[in-house]
Amino acid sequence: MSELHETAMRHALVLAANGPALGVNPQVGCVLLDADGTIVAEGWHRGAGTPHAEVDALSKVADATGLTAVVTLEPCNHTGRTGPCSLALIAAGITTVVYAVSDPGVSSAGGAQTLRDAGVEVEGGVLADEAEEFLRVWLTSARLRRPFVTVKWASTLDGRAAAADGSSQWITGTAARQRVHEQRAASDAILVGTGTVLADDPTLTARGDAGELLEQQPLPVVLGTRPIPGDAKLWDHPRGVLETGSRNLDEVLAWLFEQGIRRAYVEGGPTLASAFIAAGLVDEYLVYLAPKLLGGDRLAVGDLGITSIGEARELHITAVESLGDDILITARPASTPLDHRVSTGSTTER
Ligand SMILES: NC(=O)c1ccc[n+]([C@@H]2O[C@H](COP(=O)([O-])OP(=O)(O)OC[C@H]3O[C@@H](n4cnc5c(N)ncnc54)[C@H](OP(=O)(O)O)[C@@H]3O)[C@@H](O)[C@H]2O)c1
Repeated sequence: MSELHETAMRHALVLAANGPALGVNPQVGCVLLDADGTIVAEGWHRGAGTPHAEVDALSKVADATGLTAVVTLEPCNHTGRTGPCSLALIAAGITTVVYAVSDPGVSSAGGAQTLRDAGVEVEGGVLADEAEEFLRVWLTSARLRRPFVTVKWASTLDGRAAAADGSSQWITGTAARQRVHEQRAASDAILVGTGTVLADDPTLTARGDAGELLEQQPLPVVLGTRPIPGDAKLWDHPRGVLETGSRNLDEVLAWLFEQGIRRAYVEGGPTLASAFIAAGLVDEYLVYLAPKLLGGDRLAVGDLGITSIGEARELHITAVESLGDDILITARPASTPLDHRVSTGSTTER
């Protein structure tokens, strides 16, 4: 049955991707299988307040008695705007539940145990690595109870983020800048330091090719103690602007998490980026490299408190892409808190 379950799980992951990638809820997919392993219903989660994937799939069959539910995330045990999926599956007469990764939520975990207690056969950890990768952003945020942090910078080949006069806005070309706008639109919040606001007076909006505002606009968040000038362009941002008045990264991230921010896009400048790196708070790096040389002391990343090569932060490069004349490097810390995650196991219990 395990090959059938893996095939069904792969399909459930494709279904999950139909759901919205932003917001507080995970993308989850579910398929129901009959005794022969044939898919008889599909479901996915369409966002907060709508039926969860399991309930969506159950709504498509007249009688679910004896069916197997294959779901990308452990069925929740939590009564929110919708009831617990574990109880919905039990009430519908599902006899086997197969899931990929455990629900890390404080209030939503425990669905597998509830199902087992009701006599449902439960198998966790099926295609766990694929599901972990697919839900990486959401899982990281849920486990660490802070937003997933992406740090982006643009630098010259010699690692400079600005010219001696502080100007930095045209380091990369059009294609790279357009990609940045897409990445902003795929984030819940953009974080910058007061230094960038004072030096560049940025709008921090997500814009299309013609300069038009994209539908999804992340919340601009300014870290630092200096006030934002009254005539700063940021005040006209469609989402408003959050002035934290703080340098405490942990506190700001924890507060943003409470506000439902799961994806934070840190756009600089060098002081703020370095502070995030030094604090070990970066989950993903997006480094835009322009074929230019600037020299001077305006480095993209400043002091990280590292004095010898053995202390270097090790990264894994996951993608290298050409964008016009520029290069985008995507990298992850070689060791992350996720490496110490609680194993989802691959167990079958009754
Ligand atoms: N190439 C790029 O990708 C890029 C991107 C952005 C900016 N830039 C350039 O970078 C330059 C500005 O550099 P910058 O380093 O001054 O800008 P920054 O990193 O945006 O701002 C630095 C300020 O951030 C605040 N801050 C908040 N939390 C902090 C923490 N935990 N540790 C330290 N500081 C914290 C401090 O403000 P307070 O002093 O107010 O407390 C600090 O002075 C400009 O020339 C800009 O054009 C380049």
